[in-house]
Amino acid sequence: MSIVEKFMTMEYGPAPEDPREALAWLDHHGRRFGHFINGAWQAPAAGTYFDTSDPSTGEKLATVAQGSAADVDHAVRAARAALPAWQSLTSHARARYLYALARQVQKHSRWLAVLETLDNGKPIRESRDIDIPLVARHFYHHAGWAQLLEQEFPGYTACGVVGQIIPWNFPLLMLAWKIAPALATGNTVVLKPAEFTPMTALAFAHICQEAGLPAGVVNIVTGDGSTGEALVKHPDVDKIAFTGSTEVGRAIRKATAPSHKKLSLELGGKSPFIIFEDADLDSAVEGLVDGIWLNQGQVCCAGSRLLMQESIADKLIAKIQDRMNTLRIGPPLDKAIDIGAIVARVQLERIQRLVDQGVAEGATCWQPSIPVPSRGLYFLPTLLSNVHPTSVVAQQEIFGPVLAAMTFRTPREAVELANNTVYGLAACVWSESINVSLHVAAQLKAGVVWVNCTNLFDAACGFGGYRESGFGREGGREGLLEYLEPSWFKSAPPIHTTPLAIDQPPEPPSDFTSPPIDRTVKLYIGGKQARPDSGYSVEVRGADGRLLGEAPLGNRKDIRNAVEAARKAEAWGRATAHNRAQVLYYVGENLSQRRDEIAARLSAVVGKKQAEAEVSFGIERIFSYAAWADKYDGTVHNPPFRNVALAMKEPIGTVGVVCPADAPLLGFLSLVMPAISMGNTVIAIPSEKYPLIAGDLYQVFETSDLPDGVVNIVTGRAAELMKTLAEHDDVDAIWCFTDEASAAAVKTLSVGNLKRVFTNEGRAIDWFDAKQGEGRWFLDHTVQVKNVWVPYGE
Ligand code: NAI
Repeated sequence: MSIVEKFMTMEYGPAPEDPREALAWLDHHGRRFGHFINGAWQAPAAGTYFDTSDPSTGEKLATVAQGSAADVDHAVRAARAALPAWQSLTSHARARYLYALARQVQKHSRWLAVLETLDNGKPIRESRDIDIPLVARHFYHHAGWAQLLEQEFPGYTACGVVGQIIPWNFPLLMLAWKIAPALATGNTVVLKPAEFTPMTALAFAHICQEAGLPAGVVNIVTGDGSTGEALVKHPDVDKIAFTGSTEVGRAIRKATAPSHKKLSLELGGKSPFIIFEDADLDSAVEGLVDGIWLNQGQVCCAGSRLLMQESIADKLIAKIQDRMNTLRIGPPLDKAIDIGAIVARVQLERIQRLVDQGVAEGATCWQPSIPVPSRGLYFLPTLLSNVHPTSVVAQQEIFGPVLAAMTFRTPREAVELANNTVYGLAACVWSESINVSLHVAAQLKAGVVWVNCTNLFDAACGFGGYRESGFGREGGREGLLEYLEPSWFKSAPPIHTTPLAIDQPPEPPSDFTSPPIDRTVKLYIGGKQARPDSGYSVEVRGADGRLLGEAPLGNRKDIRNAVEAARKAEAWGRATAHNRAQVLYYVGENLSQRRDEIAARLSAVVGKKQAEAEVSFGIERIFSYAAWADKYDGTVHNPPFRNVALAMKEPIGTVGVVCPADAPLLGFLSLVMPAISMGNTVIAIPSEKYPLIAGDLYQVFETSDLPDGVVNIVTGRAAELMKTLAEHDDVDAIWCFTDEASAAAVKTLSVGNLKRVFTNEGRAIDWFDAKQGEGRWFLDHTVQVKNVWVPYGE
């Protein structure tokens, strides 16, 4: 081609990045890597290795160790041994290490970007301009948190040894998202990178050495799913943080259930990309290019479902196709490439299989006529239109460069379609109307909503999902909480061995000789007193064996009715915080008016002193959460872009609460009040020891303007009712504060829809001590943060 012809076509020539430095580092290690344990390279115990290759050429890059249970054990022991010294450092000393890591990442940025691209296949433009800068930003930001830890999180302590398992789509970035907050909060780490992309984690080991990080604080064990499994099951790990598929997330939820391991899961998504007719269509199309073709669509929050307002659908499809014709697919080290290689053959085949299935289900498949390299793992950017909302390509995560397009007519229909998924990771809304976009953003069930922008991330803005996209956040204040626990919690004694703080043998009630006998309470569902479906009741006896009354024996059907009532009362979550506070104050006032009669009845079970204390502390607790209701609100983040991120605290939804046995009134109020103060609706199973408290509670609720269905109470056999609640797919969270076996059971049983689980781990909580029994620890479990990114500034 002559120069004139070149000038006329304006074609890009190849602009390959030089991989020599990255390859030299591999050569320096003889292209063979062991694990990084206790600050040194260690050969695998079983002597087994596997290859990692460049997906754009198929060429082998290096051989890495396949971690066995013995290797994992070695690494966990190193992390445990390093923990005391790491924790005894001052906040400032830890901050300096994180700062040193950030600096080293910056100094090696190009080497890391090239290595990432070689191992993963993503365009160098992305690894250089997105992944690695975000890695450095994450360490900088968390160096700051390390510095401020004691001031900002008084009363909290690190979990201990943390096991972290990451996927292959953003290998070093996911490492940073995991390691930075863990170290900043004083944990030590064993991290397992994905088997397809271990190289930058090993490069990070090198950086830890350069930064002089104490041995054992960060350990990297390479290997496949079996290595991850060994880490999850290791008895001396205190917390597991996982990013990857929902299927493996579920397996990890089950595997950790019998233990006290804290767990955070960042799983899949099927995120909607909603374009309204008044959107700036050219900007929206550019957003879409980032939304679905970034990293070949191998992004958990990829905007993989395009929802277009019907009136602009044809015009928009034409624009998208035009743009797709200009995308460049090819060698990822070429700086002018938009779409690189798919990470592995199995992934490529999976994408093709899902696309074929979508077409078989009626979708129309369109791909641009652009050149594709004959060698390497490439998949053309793909547009599927005429997709039915129930089709596999509208429901399943494809994790490839495939966009499934659908239409809607009204904002309401857009929201319905957008939320028609089991996932809830991210969403995009494009509209020039601030009213439409923010109105829709508020209704989307997603952890991140980008308004007129897409795929923006920042260390200050927590990232994570609603629903089956997992639980926990990475980044920001809420991300740190995933690596912290209240200081008293770990050493709290098991529930059975400790009497309550106010400890005395129950006394016979002194202020009445014959108790107000034959008190028959009912269930409380949807604001109405209801008889149990079973038609049975159970006798409730006092401490001295006297019959105090009868409580209904609730069953599965009653729980289902209660869940339905709680779901119907969801408008409570949209009531103003001021309004919720007023109702809570009113509950407190009405409890105060009945304090003597309630204490008198309760004293037959827990003794006079405790009964009176439960009522007094109970009134105070209600006032605390009334106070919190309009103060525990969101934040506005200022990420380093032309945006603000509104970190909105939204209620989780419907919460099942299994109340502690030993403090029938105060235990109930300490759990149910925070939940409803933040707008959740509740199905509560009251103390099995004294379920009659239900009668007192609903009389108070009935006179307090609490809308019907916000609190529902089902008495009966706690273990049976808890099982139905934990398995119910329309319950979003379950809190269980009874014994250790129940704590383990709720975790296992909740795996179906991956409920948020909050338990006492079978430990005793002193409900009379406000440091243990109330405050932020509970409130943190009542909400999930949704970050709404909005353009802002000049
Ligand atoms: P995966 O979930 O199997 O792998 C993620 C990580 O978990 C890897 O480090 C893997 O070795 C480890 N792992 C696998 N089985 C494990 C187990 N039983 N216990 C502990 N760790 C285990 O994901 P995979 O197979 O690489 O990709 C399959 C699909 O998962 C993708 O097509 C995509 O749909 C989804 N995925 C989603 C990601 C996300 O960020 N949401 C990331 C990666 C994959």
